[in-house]
Amino acid sequence: MTVNFSCFFLLSVLVLSSRVNSEPVQDKQALLAFLSKTKHPNRIQWNSSTSACDWVGVECDANRSFVFSLRLPGVGLVGSIPSNTIGRLNQLRVLSLRANRLSGEIPEDFSNLTLLRNLYLQDNAFTGEFPISVTRLARLTRLDLSSNKFAGPIPFAVNNMSHLTGLFLQNNKFSGSLPSINADGLDEFNVSNNSLNGSIPGSLSKFPKSSFAGNPALCGGPLRPCNPFFPSPEPSPIPPETPGEKSKNLSVGAIIGIAVGSTIIALLLLLFLILCLFKRRRQPPKPVTAPTGSVPPAEAGTSGGTTERERNKLVFFEGGIYSFDLEDLLRASAEVLGKGTVGTSYKAVLEEGTMVVVKRLKDVAANERVFEIHMETLGKMKHENLVPLRAFYYSDDEKLLVLDFMEEGSLSALLHGSRVSGRTPPNWDSRRKIALTAARGLAHLHVTGKVVHGNIKSSNILLRPDHEACMSDFGLNPIFSNTASSSRFSGYRAPEVVETRNVTFKSDVYSFGVVLLELLTGKSPNQTSMGEEGIDLPRWVQSVVREEWTAEVFDVELMRYHNIEEEMVQLLQIAMACVSIVPDQRPIMQEVVHLIEDVYRGETDDGLRQSSDDPSKGSDGYTPPIELRTPARSVTP
Ligand SMILES: *[C@@H]1O[C@H](CO)[C@@H](O)[C@H](O)[C@H]1NC(C)=O
Ligand SMILES: *[C@@H]1O[C@H](CO)[C@@H](O)[C@H](O)[C@H]1NC(C)=O
Ligand SMILES: *[C@@H]1O[C@H](CO)[C@@H](O)[C@H](O)[C@H]1NC(C)=O
Ligand SMILES: *[C@@H]1O[C@H](CO)[C@@H](O)[C@H](O)[C@H]1NC(C)=O
Ligand SMILES: *[C@@H]1O[C@H](CO)[C@@H](O)[C@H](O)[C@H]1NC(C)=O
Ligand SMILES: *[C@@H]1O[C@H](CO)[C@@H](O)[C@H](O)[C@H]1NC(C)=O
Ligand SMILES: *[C@@H]1O[C@H](CO)[C@@H](O)[C@H](O)[C@H]1NC(C)=O
Repeated sequence: MTVNFSCFFLLSVLVLSSRVNSEPVQDKQALLAFLSKTKHPNRIQWNSSTSACDWVGVECDANRSFVFSLRLPGVGLVGSIPSNTIGRLNQLRVLSLRANRLSGEIPEDFSNLTLLRNLYLQDNAFTGEFPISVTRLARLTRLDLSSNKFAGPIPFAVNNMSHLTGLFLQNNKFSGSLPSINADGLDEFNVSNNSLNGSIPGSLSKFPKSSFAGNPALCGGPLRPCNPFFPSPEPSPIPPETPGEKSKNLSVGAIIGIAVGSTIIALLLLLFLILCLFKRRRQPPKPVTAPTGSVPPAEAGTSGGTTERERNKLVFFEGGIYSFDLEDLLRASAEVLGKGTVGTSYKAVLEEGTMVVVKRLKDVAANERVFEIHMETLGKMKHENLVPLRAFYYSDDEKLLVLDFMEEGSLSALLHGSRVSGRTPPNWDSRRKIALTAARGLAHLHVTGKVVHGNIKSSNILLRPDHEACMSDFGLNPIFSNTASSSRFSGYRAPEVVETRNVTFKSDVYSFGVVLLELLTGKSPNQTSMGEEGIDLPRWVQSVVREEWTAEVFDVELMRYHNIEEEMVQLLQIAMACVSIVPDQRPIMQEVVHLIEDVYRGETDDGLRQSSDDPSKGSDGYTPPIELRTPARSVTP
């Protein structure tokens, strides 16, 4: 009985004392393992005979049953965090190891710290990619990895930390583009001083500039606009701040300026409004859209003629397939396709994936009104062999055209592109098809549109997926100053254009003839190494042909095809007619179309004929002789 009692007493004392001195045994072992494996100065003394809950930097829960937080900032820890140490503190809520000299990668087993709320690892020398183990910590609210040597991309998986309110990644070597991070709950975000590139996702653009600074290739959001279509808004109209009295005076001046300015603007607006009302009353029957009616009011924001069009709007043409605005274009990523004679072309990929070509015109001489009227004319040019103009933009600084993106590239690239990249030269069938379809596009432009192309060259002939040709960059000469257009397209320029600088239907035919010669010879008209120096392609072909009618002019790539010589010679004759020195000796474009169609006549299985929906052709494929035929396609709007 007494024994029993004393036993009970002893037991209860033991239990009692163990409760007082209770400690998380597992966590203690993990902590001791961490410290023993990590170099540290002597000042960290964790006495293994006392409770871990009493150690410097360690906090336990109220019952002292687990380690709640571990904070060891700036204590001189050196080297990598050993795995199977801190990762075992599976009740940890707060971990701070900032401002040490820790390096290496974050151990995988950090993913077991599933209850962690705050993780501070800044100001160390950690390396490796963004620690994926950390992205598994779904309850994390603050993550600071700043001022380390982390590299590589910021993973989309940061979105898995759905409770994050602060994400600090500045002063690392993160690269690539920013993923679209859900920033709803995010109050603080910093990725400054990394090597990020591309555009800032819309969700993150609410953060200030300083969150992104120090990433030279990053754009969008609070930084400069991403694409090169618009000049950077950066050039500061605000003078550099001067301290003290001066800046005060300045701001007073500025306030007065703003006050005066806004009064003037208000007055001007009022005047404008009155004028508008007056004007509208005088001509009530006029339609409210642009003079031609080609600008849909909803998209263009037209309310009384294009001059009153809302500024900073892209003007779309009717029947377009796109719905985006200038903002979307600003956010698009853009890549230079080429610097052409009219300006630089960019391939712009809008956020939803739509691809368009944006041409940034240079040296535009036309004023806004003339520009708009002209663009409206061009916008009406619709033909399967013309690259449609979809929209335009005019401001003092920028004149933009938006066109369809043609993935197959240009005829120039097809013919002269690097063969290293696996490009095979086009065979005869596709060259013939390109000749015919390009001619049809041009004939439509001339006959229906009454528009002179003015800039025909193989790099302005684009290819559709079915390898039909599409004429691009047409009809732009009138908006440029005459001098600017002078030396625009040397190898393709008709002799009379060199003198008069006036492009005409006839000079278009000449340039088209040069393109035909290019198709036949495989030679670029701008290439000077054609026999004698300085001789142009037509003269070179003429000289060769005059001498002996040899097959020497033809592209050697075509020599491996059989039974095409007759067709090649026929096309050569058409080309030669087009490049006659005397403009009046050149055929008109409809004739050229018919002549090229004749080259096809011998063919039996002709893919082109099938795709043709020209009502002037009989179902049996018979086509009446030239004089009787209605112009092929050119009348179809
Ligand atoms: C550890 O704690 C025990 C008991 O409190 C004490 O006797 C001992 O001196 C301590 N050891 C060190 C190295 O501080
Ligand atoms: C502490 O332990 C008691 C009983 O062991 C338990 O009822 C209580 O919920 C615990 N408190 C915490 C905060 O875990
Ligand atoms: C996480 O903990 C579990 C058991 O608690 C263990 O089996 C697993 O290996 C740990 N994960 C890592 C990455 O250490
Ligand atoms: C993030 O969460 C998604 C969905 O819950 C999951 O499929 C994915 O594996 C997670 N990523 C990481 C890195 O944990
Ligand atoms: C951004 O950087 C990554 C890697 O650093 C690179 O692969 C990618 O091409 C870059 N993107 C752009 C648009 O510069
Ligand atoms: C970027 O890092 C450099 C040097 O490390 C530092 O001087 C500069 O202040 C940092 N810039 C930002 C925006 O943090
Ligand atoms: C981001 O970090 C940089 C460098 O530490 C700092 O200069 C800047 O003020 C921070 N921006 C924000 C918004 O916290």
